[in-house]
Amino acid sequence: MHIIRNLLFAATILLLGGCSGNNRPSIYDNIIPLPDKIVSGKGSYTVPTGATIAYTTPQLQTAANYLADGLSDFILIDSVREGSRGDIILRLGNTGRAEGSYEITIEKSGIEVVSGSYGGIISGASTLLQAVELSAGTGNGLPVVQISDTPQYQWRGIMLDVARHFFDAGEVKRLLDWMALYKFNKFHWHLTDDQGWRIYLDSYPQLAEKGGFRTPNNHDHECLERAVEEDNPYFLLPADRTRIVGRDTIYGGYYTKEEIREIVDYAAARGIDVIPEVDMPGHSMRTLMYFPELSCFDNVGWGKTFSTPLCPGKDETLEFCKRVWAEVFELFPYQYVHIGGDEVEKDNWRKCPHCKARMEEYGLENVEQLQSWFIGYMEDFFTAGGKKMIGWDEMLEGGLSPTATVLWWRSWVPDAVDRATAQGNNVILVPNEYLYFGNKQDRNTLLKTYKANIVPDGLSDAQKSLILGIQGNLWTEFVPTFERAQYMYFPRFLAVSELCWNSIERKDPEAFMGRVNAHYPLLDRRGIKYRLPDFDNIYDRNVYVGPGEAVAAPTLPVEGITVRYTQDGTSPDRNSPLYTGPISFDSDRVLKFRTFYPDGSPGDITVAPYYGVEPFEAVDIPEGELSPGLIAALYAFEGESSRDIATSPYIGEFVTPYVTIPDGAALPIGLIYTGYIDIPEDGIYTFYLNTDDGSMLYIHGEPVVDNDGMHSILEKTGQAALWKGLHPIEVHYFDPNGGSVELGIIDDDNKRRELGPSWFRH
Ligand code: ACM
Ligand code: ZN
Repeated sequence: MHIIRNLLFAATILLLGGCSGNNRPSIYDNIIPLPDKIVSGKGSYTVPTGATIAYTTPQLQTAANYLADGLSDFILIDSVREGSRGDIILRLGNTGRAEGSYEITIEKSGIEVVSGSYGGIISGASTLLQAVELSAGTGNGLPVVQISDTPQYQWRGIMLDVARHFFDAGEVKRLLDWMALYKFNKFHWHLTDDQGWRIYLDSYPQLAEKGGFRTPNNHDHECLERAVEEDNPYFLLPADRTRIVGRDTIYGGYYTKEEIREIVDYAAARGIDVIPEVDMPGHSMRTLMYFPELSCFDNVGWGKTFSTPLCPGKDETLEFCKRVWAEVFELFPYQYVHIGGDEVEKDNWRKCPHCKARMEEYGLENVEQLQSWFIGYMEDFFTAGGKKMIGWDEMLEGGLSPTATVLWWRSWVPDAVDRATAQGNNVILVPNEYLYFGNKQDRNTLLKTYKANIVPDGLSDAQKSLILGIQGNLWTEFVPTFERAQYMYFPRFLAVSELCWNSIERKDPEAFMGRVNAHYPLLDRRGIKYRLPDFDNIYDRNVYVGPGEAVAAPTLPVEGITVRYTQDGTSPDRNSPLYTGPISFDSDRVLKFRTFYPDGSPGDITVAPYYGVEPFEAVDIPEGELSPGLIAALYAFEGESSRDIATSPYIGEFVTPYVTIPDGAALPIGLIYTGYIDIPEDGIYTFYLNTDDGSMLYIHGEPVVDNDGMHSILEKTGQAALWKGLHPIEVHYFDPNGGSVELGIIDDDNKRRELGPSWFRH
């Protein structure tokens, strides 16, 4: 009794404390993306039970329905009707502001959303939906406010690859709902690839009916392995997409034309344009399986790097492509369509008599120009059909007409944006380093995405004006279920939403993380299986001074998440003990902690091995015998594990002040840093290595952090017990195509600090 009363008392004080002060954040400060301008007034408005939503022109009826659907989870909506009298009014009117802008006025008497465009009305409606949801349960209604908001970019896209794994119409609609909520307005639908063809066409029904299905491939098998290794059911092929045919399991699916039209309409009601991608002339193995005569030779399959492409030398290939697109044009009303054009293995073309004849016919000097000729030929067909062509940035290689729009994805070719905009092409940015949702996530991924400055340096204002916008892509080779897709999209989706809507000057990382925390309940309510936040206070390698007592005390940055754990090496499940506070033990073991979603389904497992160690003694070297910094030995290393660096050609030696890539180190990079680390106090130190690609930290020859292997930027952590003084240290790091390395420590407040020059000697 006594304890409970005290706790309640403390909670009251906290609440009061939270409400005082003039700069009290309002619910509107938690809208994502953050609105441009929020002017708070006095008082509040509560949408009445049985509310009416009015819209001023028939065009807005679907927008009003979108708003009513969203609100009806919180408020009883009585009617949605045309007119200018209602509790909530949607008004199409000239605000004199940029395309997609909107204004919301919430007064004590009601709400009005005004915009000059349908898309702006949807953005305003989504702001209102978030506000209602964020204020639900406060009992306070909506504070009086005036919001005016303008997007930075007109193109705010999300891509879904439905070719590698199939996502059905219902799943696509759910994604469109989330896109609208976070103000994305372009859905890029990657419909065909080597592994599947998902769009039914009357001209070539076998492409979907046969090409939409496959026996499980190498990606599926890898997913199956991960399902077992990570005890994660979301890596299993969904049962409703597999069937047994004879002795084989067949996996797949495709969309009927009716489903496509329904999805396009559903998107349009949410202010979203749909951009179909039918990838050609590469990524076309499915086409060639059923139409092998469209290949240069009968070697259809995998080439050196990519699959064998269509033969642009044959007239029948061109006829096929045009018939496909003519049908696609009819299904998709938006002016932009996407031809692909990426990753073409051109070996066949060099040898093929048809391709050679085509090159001769048009005076083309090489196969890059042949690719350009094909793209240009198709662009003429698109233009004649009233469409505008988008393609991946490889299109630039053999020359490109200035009317095509370039989707820049290759982070390692940053001058593509300069080249494209210099010759007048529009560009959309999706650099894979930041905007590929398939990249593995760690605790830093969300902020890295949020803070990304992705417009390449050195563009003139005229060039910058050709950047239509930004999008995020999800490739699904290793994403067999919609739940796994959600995990890869969220919460990064929220950071990409901010990148699209707000300029880099408005970035406030700390405030953004607070907003994301406020949005987890919204994601929960929608049943989204987002990547739950990471634990603090446990690491990839934990030590205690043994023999003695170890204490594992992981914490999470948000409250209310269920955590269960095991100490016997098994995966925690819903019957494992609940984690409620620090766990003590006195012998080595591997603890496993697992978060659970509110619906009880399991999240990630965090593996935390604990080792009892004796602290390392410092080495005794007179200070005068040492110099500042570390020796960095450089190797021309092209392998996939830092353990092999020293077997590659040795280039030379640098002195670096700390663990950083020396100026003048040419790619491919393999670096071995050696020297001493100067430890200021006795203690257990927690190190992190944050690198792209792999790395290892050794102290006294012992592996402390293992971040090895090929990967995009990723953090790994590990502890060592060290007496004050100098300790021998080695960091092994490699990157074949340009990356980064950072070694730091995590202090008792969970703050990460890069280790600077004062820590190192050699
Ligand atoms: C791509 O990622 N191949 C566009
Ligand atoms: Zn050919």
